[in-house]
Amino acid sequence: MHVITDIEAMRHYRQGQEGKKIGFVPTMGALHAGHLSLIEQARTECEAVIISIFVNPLQFGPNEDFEKYPRELKRDIALAEGAGADVVFAPTQTEMYPRPLVTQVVVAEITERLCGASRPGHFTGVTTVVSKLFHIVQPTHAYFGLKDAQQVAVIERMVEDLHFPLEIVPCPTVREEDGLALSSRNRYLSKQEREQAPILYQALTRAEANLLQGKYKSSAHLEEDVRTHITSQPLAQIEYVEALTYPDLTPLTDLHSPLILLLAVRFGDTRLIDNILLNKGEQ
Ligand code: PAJ
Repeated sequence: MHVITDIEAMRHYRQGQEGKKIGFVPTMGALHAGHLSLIEQARTECEAVIISIFVNPLQFGPNEDFEKYPRELKRDIALAEGAGADVVFAPTQTEMYPRPLVTQVVVAEITERLCGASRPGHFTGVTTVVSKLFHIVQPTHAYFGLKDAQQVAVIERMVEDLHFPLEIVPCPTVREEDGLALSSRNRYLSKQEREQAPILYQALTRAEANLLQGKYKSSAHLEEDVRTHITSQPLAQIEYVEALTYPDLTPLTDLHSPLILLLAVRFGDTRLIDNILLNKGEQ
C-alpha cells in the first residue's frame, strides 16, 4: 500500500490507473468500523481504492473540536491497509491550503437546514475540500456514509450541478451492538452519557414501527413523539428532530412516500447525529 502526502505524487499515481474503476473514500481519520466498511465496499466494487485522511479546518466552526480532533495517522494507515486500500492520501495543511482560499464551493438551500442551521459554514467547508479532493484524486466512484445523510445529499447535488464525472455511492450506517452509530466523537461521551446515547437509535426504530402501524397523523405528530421519547433520557438535549423527503430533504406532504427521519442531540458538549430511511419500498 502507498502512503502519499503530496498532490503531485497523488496525480502521478492516478495517471498510472487510467481506464480503471477508482474508488475513493474521503475521511478525517480516527478510523473506525464505519470508515472501514466504506473501504471494504469500494474494494469489492473497484480496481483501485484510495482513501484520504485530512482533518479539514474549513468545516469546523470557531468553537468546535478542530484542535482536539483525534489524529492517529500510523494506526489509521494500518487499518486502511487491512480493509483493502491501495493508497492512503494524507496531505498536510500547507499542501492543501498553501495560502488562504478565496474560492469556495457553495451549495445553497439543502445546506441551510438541519446541521447547517447550527453549524454555519460547515457544509461550504465540506463541499470545498471534497471538490479539491475530487480534482486531485479523480475517482470514478466516491463512497460516503449515510450516517451523515445530509452530507450525502449535499455532495450528490454538487456533483450533479457541477458535472463532476463520478458516481456517489451512499453506504449504510455501521452501529455498536446497542444501536449507537459509530462516530469518532463517541469517545468524548462520559460513562453516563454513553449509557443514555442509544436512545437515538431506539427512538428512530420505534418511530419506524409506529409509522408502519399507521400511528402517526402527520409529520409534526411523528416528530413530537420522537422528541418526547428522547427526552426520557435526562442528559439528552435535542437540537433537531425532522422528518423530510429523501433525497431532497424538503418538507413532507405525506407519510407514505420515501422519507428520512433525522436527529441531532447533544450530550454535554458532544453532539451526536443519526437518521433512518423509511418507506424505502414506496415510490
Ligand atoms: P469523517 O467524519 O471522517 O467521515 C468519513 C466518512 O465515513 C463519511 O462518508 C461518513 O459518513 C462515514 N461514516 C462515519 N461514521 C460512519 C458510520 N457509523 N457508518 C458508516 N459510515 C460512516 O465526513 C467526513 O469525515 C468529512 O466531512 C469529509 C467528507 C472527509 C470531508 O472533510
